[in-house]
Amino acid sequence: SKVVLAYSGGLDTSAIVPWLKENYDCEVVAFVADVGQGAEELEGVEAKALASGASECHIVDLKEELANEYIWPMLQAESVYEDDYLLGTSVARPVIAKAQVMVARKVGADALAHGCTGKGNDQVRFESCFAALAPDLKVIAPWREWTMRSREELLNYLSERNIPCSASLTKIYSRDANLWHISTEGGELEDTWTPAGVNCWAWTVDPKEAPNEAEVLDIDFEAGVPVALNGEVLSGANLIERLNGVAAAHGVGRVDIVENRLVGMKSRGCYETPAGTVLLAAHQALSHLVLDKVCSQHLKFLGLQFAQLLYDGRWFTPLREAIVAGVQSLNKELTGQVRVELYKGRATVLGSQSPHSLFSEAFATFGADEVYNQKDAAGFIRLYSLPARIKALKNEGK
Ligand code: ARG
Ligand code: SIN
Repeated sequence: SKVVLAYSGGLDTSAIVPWLKENYDCEVVAFVADVGQGAEELEGVEAKALASGASECHIVDLKEELANEYIWPMLQAESVYEDDYLLGTSVARPVIAKAQVMVARKVGADALAHGCTGKGNDQVRFESCFAALAPDLKVIAPWREWTMRSREELLNYLSERNIPCSASLTKIYSRDANLWHISTEGGELEDTWTPAGVNCWAWTVDPKEAPNEAEVLDIDFEAGVPVALNGEVLSGANLIERLNGVAAAHGVGRVDIVENRLVGMKSRGCYETPAGTVLLAAHQALSHLVLDKVCSQHLKFLGLQFAQLLYDGRWFTPLREAIVAGVQSLNKELTGQVRVELYKGRATVLGSQSPHSLFSEAFATFGADEVYNQKDAAGFIRLYSLPARIKALKNEGK
């Protein structure tokens, strides 16, 4: 039999290759998703996979697909999980799972494997995607089966088999990186009273050490999708990568939070989402300018539902299609420009404009106007407050 393993080149998945071969008597095909985790992680990954005993290694570039088909709809919905988490890991799981299934079909595999633990969200996300896309394929999750628990045991397992591995014995954090974010869990973060250490933050400078000069950026949106930075038209992945560099240098996009995992426990995570933080603030400014009150409220509602769906791994479902259809409808007129200032960890909107803006200076001005008759407000308020008047009169016994 043949198993396609979602392989990263790290210690865990390196040990999974020989473990699968021994315990399932199978051929192991390594699948590596390039979701923008960076050259450092991808360098030499094929050689590593083969050295671990994989028969083939397929590296698939998913960066533009991740940006355009997954991250943009999430941004259009302004989705945030539990007030703070911009869903960087969650949003990448479905695109990875889909590509893994495609590799499995190509090589004629009968099983899929991943390196997620049995305690987290990612196992649920991957396997829910697999269930929707390839219900016939078996799923193997070695962390839920083997008894190894420590890095030392995994390193011993590899060295007993003469498999080279450059992983170190001590690795403090569990991290996950892609175009949108890097997440950090474990280490000192497991004590909620201990502040994140200096090595926790990987992409962003400490806001206290960020430049003393602010930087101003113009972002162009078309139908709620960012298309240009300072007038330069960029592809989805390129725009995010470019903006990550600029915003990270100003310390923008850090959050350190405790969240509710799908499996019931709380966990603490530090997330760095530099471009995402800027783009979310900009998108919100544009939607506030263009959408009327009830449409804004509806987008907020859809955004919350979508955040929950993303976090919970329900991408390949009819509900996602329905939510995204609504989100896209509300984004039709979100074309325009937002100016953002980056300064010491903050992204502040300085201005917004759109041909579809509902902001009317003629109506809103504190100066003299020609269009609004203030006398109309009197009748409006009498009817608007009628329930309060009726109740008060009743209480007075009249
Ligand atoms: N807690 C975040 C989430 O559930 C991040 C998970 C990070 N995953 C990882 N394999 N390191 O989306
Ligand atoms: C894992 O447990 O594999 C990573 C964390 C998570 O999935 O929530």
